[in-house]
Amino acid sequence: MALLAIETSCDETSASVVHEGRILSNAVSSQVALHAEYGGVVPELAAREHLRNLQPMVRAALAESGVPISRIQGVAATRGPGLPSALMAGLKAAQGIAFTLRLPFFGVHHHEAHLYSPWISGNPAQARFDEFEPNVSLIASGGHTILVFVESELKHRVLGATVDDAAGECFDKSGKLMGLPYPAGPHIDRLAAEGNPKAFDFPRPKLSDPDDDFSFSGLKTSVRYCLRDHPGILDDRKGLADFCASVQGAIVDVLVAKTIRAAKRMGVRCVTASGGVSCNGGLRRQLASACARERIKLRLAEKAYCTDNAAMIGVLAERQMILGKDPTPCDADIMPSWELAGTKV
Ligand code: KG4
Ligand code: ZN
Repeated sequence: MALLAIETSCDETSASVVHEGRILSNAVSSQVALHAEYGGVVPELAAREHLRNLQPMVRAALAESGVPISRIQGVAATRGPGLPSALMAGLKAAQGIAFTLRLPFFGVHHHEAHLYSPWISGNPAQARFDEFEPNVSLIASGGHTILVFVESELKHRVLGATVDDAAGECFDKSGKLMGLPYPAGPHIDRLAAEGNPKAFDFPRPKLSDPDDDFSFSGLKTSVRYCLRDHPGILDDRKGLADFCASVQGAIVDVLVAKTIRAAKRMGVRCVTASGGVSCNGGLRRQLASACARERIKLRLAEKAYCTDNAAMIGVLAERQMILGKDPTPCDADIMPSWELAGTKV
């Protein structure tokens, strides 16, 4: 069954065609440049941009896949969580296509799609559910930082989440204080590669707390005070690189330590990571060495599937369908605050 999927939960307009787990296309139009001048995503601008880009992305995804619209057998879209007006644009477009063509429609949970995105691999890309094993999964993005125990396919339980800022928000806000452009995460990543992570001693919030929650707002405040107390430290490239490496080191240390600890406690031999922050070079390296040390298998989402994309929405919808989940009504509404299934323990 060829499935057309649409994702518009934040600032990426994406459409994809998947068929039996294979990603036949994954067209993504990013709005980063549009929002950069405001230092963050402006919801109404995002929604307007989605409306402008949806049709070209759907056309591009269909063309690249080689599957004519007449052979599409199902339509999926992100139903939540996300920015209400942005979600509305993609969900209603997808439902319109499904209704008009009399196809089943599937409304997908955005974070649940991230959870399974590390299983997409290879060239051509394919969802490898045959390789699935129970895992602890880190989802780290601009809006969320969540640790999830994935017991079996489509059965998971949230272990912990950030109690304030997300890891990506901490990268972006710290970067803003340093005068870096939005989103600052990739800039900090690049500069950190040249710097000394021990140059500045930032706190590792909640590192020694026994729970699986995170907190990053205090770290951002430490960054602010450090810059206030040491004017001029960013004036040369070395100072900036050291500062970036130190901030990144603090964020990554916490993410890695808490993920590994949760994996050991839950008794799983596999860790996965996804979401925009999982593109971070330091995080990828540190997770790899910690997992190797603990003899835990690591599945990092490939970078194209770390950030928001419709392929992961299509892959999950198709898997849910195969495992017997019913379609979503064509008039179902958006769910901007949709909690990931499973109770926090
Ligand atoms: O998943 P994503 O594309 O969008 C959502 O927030 O849902 O994540 C975007 C976040 C931003 O905060 C951005 O700064 C961060 O991911 N990010 C990175 C890197 N690439 C993207 N953070 C650190 N290092 C990176 N290389
Ligand atoms: Zn996301």
